[in-house]
Amino acid sequence: MNRKSLKDWTGTAAVIGADFGDSGKGRLIDELATRAHIVARYNGGSNAGHTVKNKYGKFALHIMPSGIFNPKTICLIGKGVAANLESLVLEMETVKKVGVSLQNLLIDEQATITMPWHLMRDGLREKLRKAKIGTTGSGVGPTYADRAERVGLRVKDLISADFKEKLFEEIKIQNKFFNLKLSGADIFKKYQNFAKMIKPYVGQTIALVKRAQKEKKNILFEGAQGFFLDIDSGTYPYVTSSNPGIVGIMRSFVVHPSEIDQVVGITKSYITRVGEGPLPTELKGRLKDKIIERGHEYGTTTGRQRRPGWLDLVLIKAAILDNKLTSLALTKLDVLSNLPEIKICTLYKKANKLFEYQSGDAEYLADCQPVYESLPGWSEDISGIRKFQSLPKNAQKFVKFIEKKIEVPVNFISVGPARGDAIYT
Ligand code: GDP
Ligand code: IMO
Ligand code: MG
Repeated sequence: MNRKSLKDWTGTAAVIGADFGDSGKGRLIDELATRAHIVARYNGGSNAGHTVKNKYGKFALHIMPSGIFNPKTICLIGKGVAANLESLVLEMETVKKVGVSLQNLLIDEQATITMPWHLMRDGLREKLRKAKIGTTGSGVGPTYADRAERVGLRVKDLISADFKEKLFEEIKIQNKFFNLKLSGADIFKKYQNFAKMIKPYVGQTIALVKRAQKEKKNILFEGAQGFFLDIDSGTYPYVTSSNPGIVGIMRSFVVHPSEIDQVVGITKSYITRVGEGPLPTELKGRLKDKIIERGHEYGTTTGRQRRPGWLDLVLIKAAILDNKLTSLALTKLDVLSNLPEIKICTLYKKANKLFEYQSGDAEYLADCQPVYESLPGWSEDISGIRKFQSLPKNAQKFVKFIEKKIEVPVNFISVGPARGDAIYT
């Protein structure tokens, strides 16, 4: 097993959710960013909620890269991000208030903007459809739909001289197509304001990344969501509309997967899903309530209760294989303390046959039955532990069991939400 250290990482690294999101990407990026010359967010929009807890306070970031708290780190928002400017401007204000500088923030001019009609269309479709996806209501699906239809307004349009004409024409079409009653004048006023605020931060991110690669700088890619919410590889239609997987990095920053030295998958020590869609290891009853309570499993973006389940190594192994993950970061190990028994799903069963996960849609995953292996729990509070050897023996066994099954090292374990509440192995 090739165990590369994450603590003193160099070169190019990526953090990719190996599950259905909310695995602690924000907190890991915040930790790793202390060594990053660049942190580059590559996908998703304000559907993401990345929690960061450090000396500046606790933050829920939706658009802002989670490396922003490091004064020397350049923070990029890639062209593949659905740029919700309302969120961005709010987050800019929030971090400025605690004394964080924005001088190193750069938003790609080619990113498509999430406009008010995207939010309306997202809400309306969810209301009308029978089988709801349970979206975050952030307008992300319609933003990407318009990008694919080549009608999305981009950040460069916002700061162009003819923004008003472009905006009014698009509003006319949206009103007609979707029977909306949008007022051009109101939206123009609002977005003119946004334009003023973000103009100093607009530029070309790809050129910057290319130069940094040549200069052998440390570049860290920040994914949003998780691989099984990927539009192409996830449990369609219960997915998001971008590529949380490795492909998303190429789409935003034109960096080939082979150029990334460490591709870190991240998962909780259990699994959660928010919104609809299959979750083979989903927990019910008292255990479910216990995990929700101990893990504070409520969505960062919507406040909805997350659905918890046992760790699903069948999914993790598929994420490793498809994204060529080189290691796994395991978060929230502290939440599993005080359980007499911990289960881990290691295989699926369908029609009495055992099998590993093959890329499939929601229907495929819905009738996969989990096959569990059971491990003994531990009762100690582990939140103050910083060395692997100091963990209770059964917690060590839990991590070693995972490593053996997935055949890549677990090189980061977190035992609390704040920067530093972690074990590097
Ligand atoms: P992200 O979307 O992947 O960045 O994850 P979220 O921020 O949505 O959800 C992760 C939640 O778990 C946040 O509330 C974090 O503060 C919290 N968290 C992260 N790591 C740990 C940990 O090791 N232990 C505990 N108890 N909480 C953690
Ligand atoms: P982070 O980056 C967890 C889920 C939604 C819904 C589906 C589609 O914080 O891990 P969308 O609004 O994207 O159209 O919703 O995807 N979802 C997330 N779940 N974490 C996220 O982001 C998510 N972003 C979207 O709940 O099921
Ligand atoms: Mg989240």
